[in-house]
Amino acid sequence: MADGPIQLTDVQAILKDFRDPESGRSIHDFEQVKNVQLDGDRLSLTLELTSWAAPIWQDVCDALSEKLQAALPGLRSVRIDRRIHARAPQKLGEIGLTAKTVIAVGSGKGGVGKSTIAASLAFALQRAGSRVGLMDSDVYGPSIPHLLGLSGRPMIENNRLTPIFKNGMPVMSMGLLVPKEEAVIWRGPMLHGAVTQFLRDTDWGDLDYLIIDMPPGTGDIALTLSQLLPLTGAVVVCTPQDVALLDAIKAIHMFRKVNIPVLGIVENMSGFVCPDCGKKYDIFGSGGARKQAEESDLPFLGEVPIQLAIREHGDAGTMEANFTDANVAPSFEKIAYRLVKNLAASAAAAPPQPSLPVL
Ligand SMILES: Nc1ncnc2c1ncn2[C@@H]1O[C@H](COP(=O)(O)OP(=O)(O)OP(=O)(O)O)[C@@H](O)[C@H]1O
Ligand SMILES: [Mg+2]
Repeated sequence: MADGPIQLTDVQAILKDFRDPESGRSIHDFEQVKNVQLDGDRLSLTLELTSWAAPIWQDVCDALSEKLQAALPGLRSVRIDRRIHARAPQKLGEIGLTAKTVIAVGSGKGGVGKSTIAASLAFALQRAGSRVGLMDSDVYGPSIPHLLGLSGRPMIENNRLTPIFKNGMPVMSMGLLVPKEEAVIWRGPMLHGAVTQFLRDTDWGDLDYLIIDMPPGTGDIALTLSQLLPLTGAVVVCTPQDVALLDAIKAIHMFRKVNIPVLGIVENMSGFVCPDCGKKYDIFGSGGARKQAEESDLPFLGEVPIQLAIREHGDAGTMEANFTDANVAPSFEKIAYRLVKNLAASAAAAPPQPSLPVL
């Protein structure tokens, strides 16, 4: 840039070049920058960002500020105020679901903490400011209603299911429709039907993220999901033990086989944190999933140690309480943050999308 006083046109050139983390389009071209005021060497502006990007809002503002200051060394201060940018609902696939990003949380093995991670991911995204839904696709052994302490039955009106809400988050699960003690015997086509109905006939509203808790093992449900809609991808949960890692590899292959991209690996039960002394013991070892992620060329999204509070809150149906516990919350929040950061990086690398109406 030329020496001398900073011009508004210099600022605009930089804004034009800065991309929205969700759409990958120029924030300037899509009118996401308002109230640009240059007062000598002080700049202030309002940046509108979508609720989808809520977990990384601070990073985006910091990146813009750094970019402006690097390009315009004479700039003494940059103030960025944030506002929500409303975008039109985005239909995903043909089934009428309006969600920007759909993420399946799965593993090759039972009991590794899929439901715990799925629900925590949903809470973390929602607490950051995104609009999130949680769908339990474990039709045989639904555990989301128990972990979240949900009761009540979804109403059916005009052939539409009203989900049950937890802290404003819509949740749907077979456990809400069938009495707990009743064993459900499903055959393949019925399973497909139930998952289809959950996705197609539930009033999810306009979502940024739909998180799907997968049943243990490989197979049917992933195939059904992949046939119903273009999933953004899957998060694979595993424990540090070798055997669980082998199962994780199976899960990665399974998702790839049905064309569901794997977004990353989470290591759950990664060491035990003693509630009395805070010391971490590597009961099953730790770090194996990180190594596996590197070897498989997949992002490692984070680790969650074994913590008594997680098990207790799960049993008591108060999982959201994990987020008011400073020893537990950060590990879940980091996973949500890294996931969104990676998705935004993919959006930035993708060719610009066609324009969408702005509300
Ligand atoms: N990091 C953790 N620390 C302590 N307890 C945990 C942790 N993760 C999960 N648990 C507990 O382990 C049990 C199994 O977790 P969860 O139901 O999430 O596993 P899952 O993989 O979904 O199981 P399934 O294969 O049966 O669906 C639950 O009691 C849960 O509270
Ligand atoms: Mg489960």
